Amino acid sequence: MNPDVYLQPPRVAQAPGEAQTLYDTLLRPQPAPAAIAQAHAWLDDRLAEADLLDCDLPSDPADLPAWLARRNAAVGEQYTAYLAERQAGGPRRYFSNRAHALFFLRGVAPTKRVDGAWLYGLSRHWQDVRYAGLITTYLEELGEGDARANHVAMYERLLAEHGCDAIEGLTDEQYVQGAIQLALAHGADCYLPEVIGFNLGYEQLPLHLLITAYEFNELGLDPYYFTVHVTGDNAHSGHARKAMDSVRQLWPVLEDGDTFAQRLRRGYLLNDLGAGTLDVIHSFDLETELCRILADKSAWGRHAHSDYCRIEGRTVNDWLQDPTQARGLLQALEKSGWLRRGAPPEESRFWKLLQSERGEMFGVFSGYEQQVLADWIADGRVPEGKGQRRLTFRASRRLRDTLLPSASALGESPANDDIVDGDIALLRARLEKAKSRADVMAELVPLIGPATHATPVGLLATRQFNRLHRTA
Ligand SMILES: [Fe+2]
Repeated sequence: MNPDVYLQPPRVAQAPGEAQTLYDTLLRPQPAPAAIAQAHAWLDDRLAEADLLDCDLPSDPADLPAWLARRNAAVGEQYTAYLAERQAGGPRRYFSNRAHALFFLRGVAPTKRVDGAWLYGLSRHWQDVRYAGLITTYLEELGEGDARANHVAMYERLLAEHGCDAIEGLTDEQYVQGAIQLALAHGADCYLPEVIGFNLGYEQLPLHLLITAYEFNELGLDPYYFTVHVTGDNAHSGHARKAMDSVRQLWPVLEDGDTFAQRLRRGYLLNDLGAGTLDVIHSFDLETELCRILADKSAWGRHAHSDYCRIEGRTVNDWLQDPTQARGLLQALEKSGWLRRGAPPEESRFWKLLQSERGEMFGVFSGYEQQVLADWIADGRVPEGKGQRRLTFRASRRLRDTLLPSASALGESPANDDIVDGDIALLRARLEKAKSRADVMAELVPLIGPATHATPVGLLATRQFNRLHRTA
């Protein structure tokens, strides 16, 4: 196989499902009123679904502290058992290899890319002290305007670092959680009890966060995005505690609270809809994922190979005519010696086409796709790092820090307000004209929404909002 040219292909259009369509229409700086109305109708259907699920929330809010303590203790015990299992030589529980971990990172990206969004609609209530805890939680999700601490920006960097930023091929179920969060973001005034209930569920420390962080580190992947949630969501003083306090603070005064409690419970159960962390992790099959990647490539590459590229007597273009032949192509590549399974990837000629800067297929596979191929070739039979044990992420970071000066020593600024950006100049001009704190906040609120808070102007707006909120 020796393709003389591999054209950069057009994106293959896939018809998005209902949740993804809603997600895309809501993740805009100012979603259209029609999109918001549609989101409310969709959310009502999800709430009706949630109604059918079992709920472990206590019916009396006075029992919430004991419930929170019990949940935390149970997760602590389960994690201790996991660690003991690993120390006794047990295998990783979640991720069979790095490709599996990156598959997960991509698979939950629609949710993580809108992290914190469900609380956005409360930011308009900055003058009402009952909302202070939840608004603080939202601002902490946004890193208080520091790009390094903004959870969405952090996740984007993690995706980009491993060549996972082109997210395609996900199911509509994988957009359900993100769409719920965005629908709540743009419906807080209609769905306040549901927002509070959803937040109560989302901010509890789950076991999967702890295990994911542990196994990411072990695989040499940065676990920080996950560890920051372990520390930030803590039940003593963190987001979980604030979530519980908000129930008491925003409980209605003039009603008996039954309707509020019922709606809060439904909001809490929204957390269980769509594809969750474990669903995504368990849906991984290395060969199926590699075949999906090859099938996607086939639409782009079927006219890009010369006629003399033949595998088992057929031209590459012929193999690529039908995406369902991807598995057959993989077997043919193995049989004809282009792929050597069970050997280090560098020993496969096909791998060299992708890897070498002068290779005919250099740049065709993203970092993620290369990892999937590498792990499939190695087939769990190649000692990592050619016989050397792979460093954990933390160990490799310690090694790097001893060799390189830190970012602060290089004078890097966490919040570069001097960045050249037309939006920033415009915002500054508008703020100068504002006559009151309320005027300033009215300018800032639209910019700290899910679609904009991680941009330079959104980060600036978040810093300003945070400063004024703290002193309100
Ligand atoms: Fe977060």
